[in-house]
Amino acid sequence: ILAVLSTPAASVYTLTDSGGLGARFDGVGGLSGGGATSRLLVSYPEPYRSQILDYLFKPNFGAALQILKVEIGGDAQSTDGSEPSHMHSAADRNYTRGYEWWLMREAKKRNPAVRLYALPWAFPGWVGGGEPYPNPGLTAAYVTSWILGAKTVHNLTIDYVGIWNEKEYDVTYIKTLRKTLDDSGLGHVRIVAADGHWLRISEDILADPELAKVVDIIGAHYPGTNSIPMARQTGKTLWASEDYSTFNDPTGASCWARILNQNYVNGHMTSTIAWNLIASYYDNLPYHRDGLMTANQPWSGHYEVSDPIWATAHTTHFTSPGWQYLKGVGHLDGGGSYVALTDGKEGLTIVIEAMTHQYSQCVRPLLPPYEVKPGQAATFQLGGAFENITRLHVWYSKLIGDRTVHFQSQDDKIVSGGKFSMEVAENCLYTLTTVKEAPPKIYPKSPASAPFPLPYKDKFDGPADSSEAPYFADQTGVFELYVNESSSDHSHTLRQNITERPIVWCNDADSTISVIGDYNWSNVTVSCDLMVESGGGAFVAARVDRGGCGVSQARGVFFWLLEDDANNWAVSSDIDRNDILGQGKVNATIVGQWHKLSIFAKGDSIAGSLNGKVLFDITDVELPSKKGFAAIGTLGLQKVQFDNFSVDKAK
Ligand code: GAL
Repeated sequence: ILAVLSTPAASVYTLTDSGGLGARFDGVGGLSGGGATSRLLVSYPEPYRSQILDYLFKPNFGAALQILKVEIGGDAQSTDGSEPSHMHSAADRNYTRGYEWWLMREAKKRNPAVRLYALPWAFPGWVGGGEPYPNPGLTAAYVTSWILGAKTVHNLTIDYVGIWNEKEYDVTYIKTLRKTLDDSGLGHVRIVAADGHWLRISEDILADPELAKVVDIIGAHYPGTNSIPMARQTGKTLWASEDYSTFNDPTGASCWARILNQNYVNGHMTSTIAWNLIASYYDNLPYHRDGLMTANQPWSGHYEVSDPIWATAHTTHFTSPGWQYLKGVGHLDGGGSYVALTDGKEGLTIVIEAMTHQYSQCVRPLLPPYEVKPGQAATFQLGGAFENITRLHVWYSKLIGDRTVHFQSQDDKIVSGGKFSMEVAENCLYTLTTVKEAPPKIYPKSPASAPFPLPYKDKFDGPADSSEAPYFADQTGVFELYVNESSSDHSHTLRQNITERPIVWCNDADSTISVIGDYNWSNVTVSCDLMVESGGGAFVAARVDRGGCGVSQARGVFFWLLEDDANNWAVSSDIDRNDILGQGKVNATIVGQWHKLSIFAKGDSIAGSLNGKVLFDITDVELPSKKGFAAIGTLGLQKVQFDNFSVDKAK
């Protein structure tokens, strides 16, 4: 009952289970991939790597995430790099590539109840013809084989699978996927469609009972806390299957706290998944630090437990998937929102946020203006199963600039006659709960931040933590450690393995490229041995100024060795070789032979040598990129092996 009190300011909010409950809560998640967002995490030394994983997944510790969503690697650029497919070709099968398998195992180790959700951004070329639907059975078999590999090789049960991230879906494909999963003993895997917008998938579900049967969850991205009536009409579970993508400072944490509550309050979404789980990609790649925390310095061990981790804790420490929302959730009269969840017995968790418009904007969509009162009095009236609660444990955060306070345990709130009152301050987040928890004992501060160390060398001799070489971040193509049994000098190499254009998600470059190091590097020498296996060419580069979906526009200093009649070496200031700074011919067999390429850049001077012989030495050159990563790559989609990579300061 909404009582009107005599004190004018206090609004009364009733929380009861009498009259039934709201929707089932499905959990708060983080997304690794889309793409290569966890790339540097796997290379962290212990104990830091385990500490970071604890902050993400350990129950009642840090974020305590309830869902881990990962990319099914598709060999193509998917935002901050490319992730390898388990099937580079139709005949290929490898369930140990990359780091997502490892990450899922680590999450499960910490929380066996964590739910796993997988989604492709890109597909290897053989799966289709530019898009993945010409042969739905083939694509379904490809995705299903990944899910089966998770089980047989890693004992990982995948709970949810999606269609094609933010791209067209195909109704026949969705139905075929359901059938293929069922025929493979994967009847438990729920289908999320379609990781895009609400409208078309809702229309299609309403129009097609067969589709309605196979889609379990409608997943929309960046919904701005709203769904549409038609989505509600389908009766399906609704998720914000990707959201957040905001810089991980107090404002980012406030965005996250606001949408975690309001995605349910406004949009009836029962799960929200953050892109991304952890910012483990180099700082100048796109969407800089848009993860729940940051760990992108494996060489120093430095990591930052950023504000959104603690905003997540406010919900995840005191709920589990399977709890249910109460019906009486909503907006506070003075701005902000409250949700309440129950375990169906007498357990109750209330999360209240009063994030201001100015300090809680997410990257997208635009946030319409609203007001939050500086301090508002709120009275909560508990009814039904909660009527006899006498105290609630209180957790508090204030998320604003240097006044930020994280996830503090406060005095219990005494509930008398089923009623309690409190002041809700602006930019603050509160949890009031029957669930008792001791404040987490966090780890000591991580080591100090440090730049990428020079000189740096890698002979690719392993052992490595993943199929890729530490710190290399593929931006087009896939570079994997390789044992070359036919060579005694170069028995362990790094090999670019993609030979067919994938079904891409954004713009891969025509050339393949893997970047490494520090984007502030200006005066460096980069050297590498390389062997073009059967045609094309390869490069070693310095000052590469970008990666991500803009990689085809990359500038830098690229030194090429090419299988070309007229010129078999060139130096260009762009990856597309539109701006050639020098070129010529050397008397050397390119294909099948090992060559050492060194590129030197210092101020306005560049020089390059092949097998120790200087091919060019140019001074006073106007270079479009003054600093950037070191890189290696191939002219097109060719197999090329690399060995004895090194970077040093230019002397
Ligand atoms: C999403 C996409 C992610 C990432 C993100 C950046 O739309 O699915 O992979 O690119 O945007 O905000």
